[in-house]
Amino acid sequence: MFKVHAVPPDRLPALLQAMPKAELHIHIEGSLEPELIFKLAQRNGVQLPYANEAAMRAAYAFTDLQSFLDLYYAGASVLLHEQDFYDMAWAYFEKAAADHVVRAELFFDPQTHTARGVPMAAVIEGLSRACRDAQAQLNISADLILCFLRHLPEADALLTLEAALPWRAHFIGVGLDSSEVGNPPENFSRVFAKARALGLHVVAHAGEEGPPAYIWSALKELKVERIDHGVQAIHDAELMAYLAQQQTPLTVCPLSNLKLCVFDQLRDHNLGQMLEAGLCVTINSDDPAYFGGYLNDNYLQTFAALHLGAQQAYKLAANSIEASFATLAQKRLWMHELKLCFQGFSEQD
Ligand code: ADE
Ligand code: ZN
Repeated sequence: MFKVHAVPPDRLPALLQAMPKAELHIHIEGSLEPELIFKLAQRNGVQLPYANEAAMRAAYAFTDLQSFLDLYYAGASVLLHEQDFYDMAWAYFEKAAADHVVRAELFFDPQTHTARGVPMAAVIEGLSRACRDAQAQLNISADLILCFLRHLPEADALLTLEAALPWRAHFIGVGLDSSEVGNPPENFSRVFAKARALGLHVVAHAGEEGPPAYIWSALKELKVERIDHGVQAIHDAELMAYLAQQQTPLTVCPLSNLKLCVFDQLRDHNLGQMLEAGLCVTINSDDPAYFGGYLNDNYLQTFAALHLGAQQAYKLAANSIEASFATLAQKRLWMHELKLCFQGFSEQD
């Protein structure tokens, strides 16, 4: 067991910044900043319903998940060409490198784009090229996870998976996102079974706004390896015990939960309670361009609001690395670097 020494509160932000970490829950379309949306709109001749970037940002006052998704899909309408997808992902990777992200697993929503006539090739090849450059130029290991939109029928998801198969080598897994309540995981059992048969990793959003029953269903029906969000598990003691026993990773997104009114205040967030209960919790940014912060902003604000310390920092970073779909050799290397980082901070005391 690695011994984590206490770090003085004024040194904690530097430690959170410096520690190597993985980001496992980032919708790449949710990293589109208004400046890039306007640039791409101009480049592609797309009309936007806002006069400028500030007017667009001013509209980012959400009351729930759906109020956000409406703007998120509108923002993605400027993406037409392979280079657009590359530019979007590259902008994210530059931010991730500054946050010392060593591993990023990017969600993307092909149906949002193919429904507008954008070829699957443009979407996947643009994102995939950015992932390769992230490794070569920024030393970030990056992979793609294809998400199905749960507000659409499973038949659409099956067609989407089929359409993406020529690029099977360019993505490592599938996920399930979009409007949760009323669209339970079990509606997608067949497409997830097919994805698993293809050797793809499987994850799903569950328990963001939806009930614990959706988390059970994602685990039992879809057989997911990780739960995205999962914060509603707190209302089901049996589920909490199961998640702790199985060590199923939860990709929690505190600033997202705050902006979408899942919690009224960051200090009300249950991340600390879930850590205490022994769950495998990780911190992630979800849609950083819309929720006011990238990965380190999520760490910094959550640690300040919940009064967390070095012990929790180590656990969260270690969980993120271990819960990733990277190779064992990569995980070993990053765990070694994580330990060196913490040792460096304790020696400076
Ligand atoms: N798509 C993008 N962000 C999402 C979120 N937080 N929940 C569900 N679907 C999403
Ligand atoms: Zn999400």
